[in-house]
Amino acid sequence: MNHKVLILHGPNLNLLGAREPDMYGAVTLAEIDRRLGEAAAERGVELRSFQSSSDGALIDAIHEAQDWADGIVFNPGAYTHSSYALRDAIAAIDLPTVEVHLSNVDAREAFRRRSVIAPVCVGKIAGFGWYSYLLSLDALLQLLGSQ
Ligand code: DQA
Repeated sequence: MNHKVLILHGPNLNLLGAREPDMYGAVTLAEIDRRLGEAAAERGVELRSFQSSSDGALIDAIHEAQDWADGIVFNPGAYTHSSYALRDAIAAIDLPTVEVHLSNVDAREAFRRRSVIAPVCVGKIAGFGWYSYLLSLDALLQLLGSQ
């Protein structure tokens, strides 16, 4: 059975490429999704990708993933540090979720060192730019037993 994975991008990540490129890199979100799609095809995995800057839309996507996905790779953006509602959404469903960040959040401002999402995730990858997503996808697939 082919695994199915939701790639979930949170607030402001639609601006990648133009947004603070020194911090987040020059790769656009569309290009990240394209590279992940290519990797998924090589691995025989089905990916669906969704971005929203609204926590409600992200919560809905997490709830809906329960009906079709085997796991989630989630970059919650700044909601990482504040959103108990997103944390509860992940806790409410029974899908392994990997927290992912482009930047090394532990090497930045103090408020970014705290993730309210991490305790309900299976693990976290941060600091490798767009490649953090590929590492997260492979980590999730390893966990799901397909690699
Ligand atoms: C981010 C890190 C967050 O602290 C920040 O608010 C973002 C991007 C990252 O991918 O490095 O929006 O999630």
